Amino acid sequence: MNKLALCLFAFVVFALAHPTKYQVDRNVTCLKPTPAPIKSWHIHILYWQNNQKSVEGAYQLRDKFMKDFAHVLGAPCTDLFHQDHLCMFEAYDRPDGPFLVAQWAAFVPLEHFQAVTQWSIQNRSGYDLLIHPNSGCEVEDHTWWAMWSGTPWQLDTSIFSRDQPEDYESLKVHQKQAEEESLLIKLFNRYHNNNNN
Ligand SMILES: *[C@@H]1O[C@H](CO)[C@@H](O)[C@H](O)[C@H]1NC(C)=O
Ligand SMILES: *[C@@H]1O[C@H](CO)[C@@H](O)[C@H](O)[C@H]1NC(C)=O
Repeated sequence: MNKLALCLFAFVVFALAHPTKYQVDRNVTCLKPTPAPIKSWHIHILYWQNNQKSVEGAYQLRDKFMKDFAHVLGAPCTDLFHQDHLCMFEAYDRPDGPFLVAQWAAFVPLEHFQAVTQWSIQNRSGYDLLIHPNSGCEVEDHTWWAMWSGTPWQLDTSIFSRDQPEDYESLKVHQKQAEEESLLIKLFNRYHNNNNN
């Protein structure tokens, strides 16, 4: 590819990968008339939170992943779905969401799907992993359309009450609430410390 083509390609990829709102009406678009379009992927590497060796190995694997993808890996993910680059989520050292054991995960834009998948299935060091699409149809994404390498684990899909990921605006509201709460805690601590002095 020459430079111009590469620039154009990069621009198209960027334009396509730019954070977008998921406008998915399950009744209309999850399965009919055609399956919902896949916007991005998540990869989850599962480990046993009560087994020190399993935890350490999982973190080593995470470091190795980050090293091998350092050339394309961006800043840590800031929300589950609306990302425009390959990024890491914080490792969850305990069951969280649909996962019944600990796991670490990455957000994978379409353009990195192949490299990440190839790397992961050959380098997973015995860990089981889930690669699932993000279409906005959370149940389908985590079940019929998901892929496992190694042993598939049971997931608690009953937590998916929404038909689509929370939209960006409501995520921002939640973030703002969390910030306001932490500000209150800071104020409380300052007040408390002053009274003690
Ligand atoms: C989807 O279809 C179900 C069953 O037909 C209906 O109860 C529900 O209200 C519909 N949801 C939307 C968002 O249209
Ligand atoms: C597996 O990991 C090795 C060492 O980090 C790397 O060189 C190789 O390319 C990876 N495999 C795939 C398919 O990416």
